[in-house]
Amino acid sequence: MSNPPAARSPLPARIQPSQALTALAPMQDVTDLPFMRVAAHYGAPDYFFTEFFRVHSQSRPEKHILRSLSENKTGRPIFAQLIGEHIPDMVRTVKALLAYPIAGIDLNLGCPAPKIYKKNVGGGLLRDPDKIDALLGALRDAVPHLFTVKMRLGFASTDNFERILGLINKHQIDLLSVHGRSVKEGYRSDVHYDFIGLAARVVNCPVLANGNVSSAEKASAVLAETGAAGVMIGRHAIRNPWIFSQIRERLAGQSVSAITLAQVREYIDRLYRETHSPEVPEFAQVAKMKKYLNFVGQSVDEAGAFLHDMRRALTAAELFAVCDRHLLTEPSRLFSAEPYPGVIARPNCETPLQSCSLDTVSA
Ligand SMILES: Cc1cc2nc3c(=O)[nH]c(=O)nc-3n(C[C@H](O)[C@H](O)[C@H](O)COP(=O)(O)O)c2cc1C
Repeated sequence: MSNPPAARSPLPARIQPSQALTALAPMQDVTDLPFMRVAAHYGAPDYFFTEFFRVHSQSRPEKHILRSLSENKTGRPIFAQLIGEHIPDMVRTVKALLAYPIAGIDLNLGCPAPKIYKKNVGGGLLRDPDKIDALLGALRDAVPHLFTVKMRLGFASTDNFERILGLINKHQIDLLSVHGRSVKEGYRSDVHYDFIGLAARVVNCPVLANGNVSSAEKASAVLAETGAAGVMIGRHAIRNPWIFSQIRERLAGQSVSAITLAQVREYIDRLYRETHSPEVPEFAQVAKMKKYLNFVGQSVDEAGAFLHDMRRALTAAELFAVCDRHLLTEPSRLFSAEPYPGVIARPNCETPLQSCSLDTVSA
């Protein structure tokens, strides 16, 4: 594997210069402008990533995602993520996005949704390293500053992993986020931190370890195990938006702030206020809140009673009554730092497989 010179542009300054990096993972329909504002209120990550801009022959950058760039007053750098494969369309979109205040462009090489990977974009591209080579080369030329990649370990196996890491070096990628699962493993398997460690050793740029970084304690353990430069956190930042400031406390050797159920109730109010818009019908607003609360509920009670009741609420008044009942009856009770075992946010896609490993998946 060749070792060309390291990153050309420095990464944006982090909040605590001496600490490992933190980033909010890109999440479609979640990491929009309102959620970034909420996350920043409770302790911003070093970097934000937008949900993906879809790129195809007819595409124009989606207006609601552009808002997270143009109206963002969080003060934290934002990387604009693209998903696509057609080089002229990707380059055209990069040029359009360069007019916005972005820290860089991020390429999605990991989305596991079948309707996405069947088009050979996102995680589908991991089957075709030659295509990745061409795409990285063209985008590297088109992006004047920081160009980053977010990838899974492979499609159904890790067979192409080291070759793709070589391409990350060949094209002088500035930052690599690695979600330690294959596309086929979805969200059900353990995270293969050993492969993230391999990436951190092999590539010339900083690596963000991604997947099941669920608490400040887990972040420390993952950083120690992988040697990564930082952590990227998705679902657990929805559950617990204090996670980034808790990580900074832990890495500074301070005690990690505990969160009470009353604080979580306040977080839910803030989410509602930030995401609410008069044009959105109440049922749609309630549905959006439930998307967040599915994750929050993992740390409210070990029986999953909050989740059970919350999922049955039909109106905003019913939803808030459920929140009051479960969160304000004992307001000083602690919100669990980790999800309660067996309390699953999205049973259709996160129920763990019995002893799932990369070998069984690729077989
Ligand atoms: C609702 C949802 C939407 C997501 N959308 C994106 C996306 O737009 N781009 C992307 O690269 N990954 C996306 N992901 C994957 C996350 O960025 C992250 O890699 C994954 O959730 C694992 O990290 P976690 O265990 O910290 O959640 C999404 C995940 C979720 C749960």
